Amino acid sequence: MEKNIIHGFSKLSKEDKLKFVSEQMTDPEGFLKEIRSFWHPYQQDLFDDISENTISNYFMPYSVAPNFIINGKTYHIPMVTEESSVVAAAANNAKLWSRKGGYHTRVLSTRKIGQVHFIWEGTFERLNANLPKVIPLFRDRTKHITRNMEKRGGGIVGYEFVDMTKHIPYYYQLKITFETVDSMGANFMNSCLEECGMVMRDFFCGCAGFETRERNCSIIMSILSNYTPDCVVESWVETSVQNFQNIHRNLSSREFVWRFQKAVEMADADPYRATTHNKGIYNGIDAVALATGNDFRAIEASGHAYASKDGRYRSLTKLEIDGDTFRYKLRVPLAMGTVGGLTKLHPLAKRSLELLGNPNAEELMQIAATVGLANNFAAVRSLVTEGIQFGHMKMHLMNVLNFHNANDVEKEHALNHFKNHRISYNTVTEFIEQLRTKTA
Ligand code: MEV
Repeated sequence: MEKNIIHGFSKLSKEDKLKFVSEQMTDPEGFLKEIRSFWHPYQQDLFDDISENTISNYFMPYSVAPNFIINGKTYHIPMVTEESSVVAAAANNAKLWSRKGGYHTRVLSTRKIGQVHFIWEGTFERLNANLPKVIPLFRDRTKHITRNMEKRGGGIVGYEFVDMTKHIPYYYQLKITFETVDSMGANFMNSCLEECGMVMRDFFCGCAGFETRERNCSIIMSILSNYTPDCVVESWVETSVQNFQNIHRNLSSREFVWRFQKAVEMADADPYRATTHNKGIYNGIDAVALATGNDFRAIEASGHAYASKDGRYRSLTKLEIDGDTFRYKLRVPLAMGTVGGLTKLHPLAKRSLELLGNPNAEELMQIAATVGLANNFAAVRSLVTEGIQFGHMKMHLMNVLNFHNANDVEKEHALNHFKNHRISYNTVTEFIEQLRTKTA
């Protein structure tokens, strides 16, 4: 008999859920007090409804990286992340590039795909020959779903059968291409896909021209794909190599660019390094995705698949040195939305979009990609110059001080002391302990 299993947790009232969870803690009363202290004073019902089994809210810092110049327009960009150096790096990089012409971006494509996966005991040729017959049925049966999307300029763009039989016997796909305009469009796409799946099943069952075995079409699943290689944006920076003369006290501009170039080549050559390099990109992209109520898991999944599109996991950035021109480019799939989902439901996601000037989805893609590029450039710049820990540990100092509940006076002492001393969890802890013994 398993111990401590609870049945019907989701059906309990919030108070009963809280009671059960508090009983798992060593200090139920303290836990209840703390968890309630994170309840929103007047919008808690809204947050409770956003997810399931909610008992409180989990706070994440909401920051702003100001002064990004993107295609000549200035943005102050909201970022939600727990990694303080990510925001600092984005803000510093925005400042650096604002003096060198800003960031440039363009959207390459905005198409998304979904698939109906099915098993059908016939040949691909026979399947494909029926495509012109089923397309009008698909169109007719999805009309009630696509009507509004079409009014906004989107809808279903194409249908195609895909032969997957070399992987699994009789495995085929119906691949549908969508344009979802300003919405991420997950519900729209999945509804269309499920409807088309039913059309397929009915069509094969009822088609007189088919042999018996061909009349059975087993729809296994209908679902959008989070891999969006046709929903891609590019962000880049460009300047003269000479413009890096003050980037680091010990490096000439040529030396800096050479070291930067090697670092980018290494990220392209080695999946271990590429993963960390790309993670630095998603430090920025995820923070913008979270702040604007977008699905960062979908965005990351797509990016990592895209990084492997040549059969090997590679860097998402490329450096071009063209004579004296330094051009550093990020190309990334980014399926983002500015309507629907959490974007207008979460009060702060709505505010984030307002701060960005209520962009459409394409503009938001360009903003997020730019923050990804900024974070990556900042990381590689630190790595090839003073090392990453220098900046990170400065940020870490505050976290360790807060961990020890340092008061303002203690923080001031620590900030002064660690201007000239090595920062680590242990050195900061020791410092605080000694300070407290002295003042006790
Ligand atoms: C840390 O969050 C991100 C970096 O590791 C990225 C990189 O190594 O390029 C600094």
